[in-house]
Amino acid sequence: MGAEDNQPDWDKMAEKFDYWLPQIAPVGEALIQALQAQPGDKVLDVASGTGEPALTLARRCPQVDVVGVDAAEGMVRVAQGKVGREGLGNLRFQVMPAEKLDFGDASFDRVLCRFGVMLFEDPQQGLCEMRRVLRPSGRAALAVWSTAETMPTLLWAYEAFKGRIPEDAYPPLLKVTSLGSVGVLDALLDRAGFSRYDIESRRFDYRFDSFESYWDTVEASDILKMQYEALPAEQRKDIRDEVARFARDFVTDDGLVIPHEYLLAVAVA
Ligand SMILES: C[S@@+](CC[C@H](N)C(=O)[O-])C[C@H]1O[C@@H](n2cnc3c(N)ncnc32)[C@H](O)[C@@H]1O
Repeated sequence: MGAEDNQPDWDKMAEKFDYWLPQIAPVGEALIQALQAQPGDKVLDVASGTGEPALTLARRCPQVDVVGVDAAEGMVRVAQGKVGREGLGNLRFQVMPAEKLDFGDASFDRVLCRFGVMLFEDPQQGLCEMRRVLRPSGRAALAVWSTAETMPTLLWAYEAFKGRIPEDAYPPLLKVTSLGSVGVLDALLDRAGFSRYDIESRRFDYRFDSFESYWDTVEASDILKMQYEALPAEQRKDIRDEVARFARDFVTDDGLVIPHEYLLAVAVA
């Protein structure tokens, strides 16, 4: 695992990923709105994690048929469990890497992907696959993180751990923000063969009652597990204290409000 591929072990943290879903819900809403799914459409949610935004779409549009795929078995198990509990007949999840979608050409009307593409081993191949499985004129709606300076929470973690743990365990800031600079996602969508696309920068806020509740979420979700395991035990408190210093400027009368930026891409096959 190189310095640029130190993302969390999605399989192992699957049960805990849901701690983050309320924070990123506005991005799911924006994607569903951009997708413009119609009754009778078949929709593919790639890197669907513990089920979002596929679940929200399937609940809201019973006449849309939704399939979610993710490379991590644990994530798919959690997502499929929700389908079973809710008895949703128009949604199923499968284990599948984005780079090798086991579906025929032109088999979907719409493709969704929230915060997946930049994490793929091969983002270009993943986008080529999304285009291949879309019918002509079918639409993809994707969200990827923007630049490092517009993703404060990961930047804080990166700065706090930097120099304290081996470089190959640093928080995955480079990978997570690898598609955020101007022109990078455009070039990938071009090469994937989309006929046209539009990319816009959007902002939303992480909101917590306090720094303490933010840090509780970080710890409870195991999002920095690998970094903690690489850290001398006596330095754990230093990390929290350093992140608390970064976060101070974002404490408001409404609690901790941290703006984040992402790119919303709508692409037509
Ligand atoms: C940040 S999570 C997002 C999950 C979900 N889309 C959401 O927004 O709640 C990233 C997901 O990408 C998945 N992933 C990473 N690389 C992948 C790949 N090559 N193919 C499919 N899924 C992948 C991970 O397993 C993880 O579930």
